[in-house]
Amino acid sequence: MTTYSAPRILVFAGSAREQSYNKRLARLAAERVEQAGGLATFIDLRDYPLPLYDGDLENHEGLPANARSLQALLAEHQGLLLASPEYNGFITPLMKNTLDWMSRSDGKQSGLALFADRVAAVVSTSPGAFGGMRSLALLRQLLGNLGVTVLPNPLAIPRAAQAFSEAGELEDESQRDRLDALCRRLVTILAKLHAAEPSNGR
Ligand SMILES: Cc1cc2nc3c(=O)[nH]c(=O)nc-3n(C[C@H](O)[C@H](O)[C@H](O)COP(=O)(O)O)c2cc1C
Repeated sequence: MTTYSAPRILVFAGSAREQSYNKRLARLAAERVEQAGGLATFIDLRDYPLPLYDGDLENHEGLPANARSLQALLAEHQGLLLASPEYNGFITPLMKNTLDWMSRSDGKQSGLALFADRVAAVVSTSPGAFGGMRSLALLRQLLGNLGVTVLPNPLAIPRAAQAFSEAGELEDESQRDRLDALCRRLVTILAKLHAAEPSNGR
């Protein structure tokens, strides 16, 4: 019988804003991951401030401590679930800068090695009518360049100001179902990928 261990999924949003809609969505996704049998670690990028990437700074001082901490977190997780705010049709500078620092070498190994073989799901929300979906195409592309396999079911929640209840839940049932399905799919795929070897009695 094949046994599946609970996959660990790192969850964060590309916004540091206290009232960030994408942080709300990321927190909901983390809950769904747990309900689906995964282990979710939600982190707030406000707790991991990083300077804007600068090659000279990297050469002189090495990786900032927070970049190392994020790399250590990534090393402990098989999956990523990222919530992407959209700025002028793009991912945010915070999302790009964070992933750029994480991709760098700590002097021993390339950050790219940490991203390889990871599987990600991407979601977004914005006050606009398209829910930040333009940023998702770019985030998928960036993650692909880092060697991450991205699930083909992005979820964009439009009109964020009306989309969440006071308790932080999604008001719309079909959106709740789509978030559930995406999180369940991520957990299931990771569990299968990382399944323990079937016991053959030896
Ligand atoms: C510089 C800037 C550009 C923006 N461009 C877009 C955009 O292209 N599409 C969109 O839906 N919202 C856009 N917005 C609005 C954001 O979606 C909104 O500020 C949102 O609340 C940011 O996500 P957060 O709540 O997770 O911080 C923009 C906001 C800023 C500050």
